[in-house]
Amino acid sequence: MEVHRAKTSGFCFGVSLALEKLDAEVEKNDAKIATLGPIIHNPQVLEQYKNMNVRCLEHADDANKDERVIIRAHGIPRETETTLTDSCKEVVDATCPKVKRAQLGIYNMIGKGCFLLLYGEKDHPEVRGLMSYADDRAFLFNSLEELKKFPLSADIDYCLAAQTTQDREEFSRIDEYLQEKLAERLQVLNTICNATRERQQEAIALAKKVDAMVVVGGYSSGNTRRLADVSRAQGCLTFHVERPEELSASDFKGMKVVGLTAGASTPRSIIDATEEFLMNL
Ligand code: F3S
Repeated sequence: MEVHRAKTSGFCFGVSLALEKLDAEVEKNDAKIATLGPIIHNPQVLEQYKNMNVRCLEHADDANKDERVIIRAHGIPRETETTLTDSCKEVVDATCPKVKRAQLGIYNMIGKGCFLLLYGEKDHPEVRGLMSYADDRAFLFNSLEELKKFPLSADIDYCLAAQTTQDREEFSRIDEYLQEKLAERLQVLNTICNATRERQQEAIALAKKVDAMVVVGGYSSGNTRRLADVSRAQGCLTFHVERPEELSASDFKGMKVVGLTAGASTPRSIIDATEEFLMNL
């Protein structure tokens, strides 16, 4: 069977960097290592780190004084960083540089007296981090409709920003709406990252020309689930699996071409193994 593998499948730049930092800490072998929350949403990778004695902490004050703790790519709230610094040996910041830039951009705008309008998902770890840089001078919304219900004041300056993985088209519509209402009282921070969009666009293009799509990645990984969703939305039979062992030859009976993609937290070894399974059918 022919397999078309997406060029954008697998780790994004921020996840690669965070894992490199974690690996470098493990290699030093001079302190106990922990991560605050799962370093990525992939159970196989997490199991490997667990076997290397890397603890996964649920809360910042769960850290021990002899532990070095890695902050994952999503970043964390400012107050959590303070708690973490007090409770562990050393903090290693593996926040994705694009998320860090968003955090500092918001901090800077709040310092200039702006009120933050943040387009993002409530309760997402990255969003909790971004909101903490606004010192409660913020409104979080998930759509233009929701924003329209928010009473804008004629007397204050606003700053518009977004969670890095948000939809760029919706962000443009939000920007247009606010430009009309606020004109020169609006500052816009361009915080959306292209990695998610590029993956989705390639998955859509593939889904249109194959008999079925295989999307590999953790079931708890939001960006992997969205890849499966956009593929299904093209009317393409789509399998979302964490490992190739979950697929069976009978699923692909009579098919000639299959597309393969993977979320931003799926290791190359698992994508390679899935590709090999499909090619051997
Ligand atoms: Fe960073 Fe974009 Fe990945 S913000 S963590 S490179 S999706």
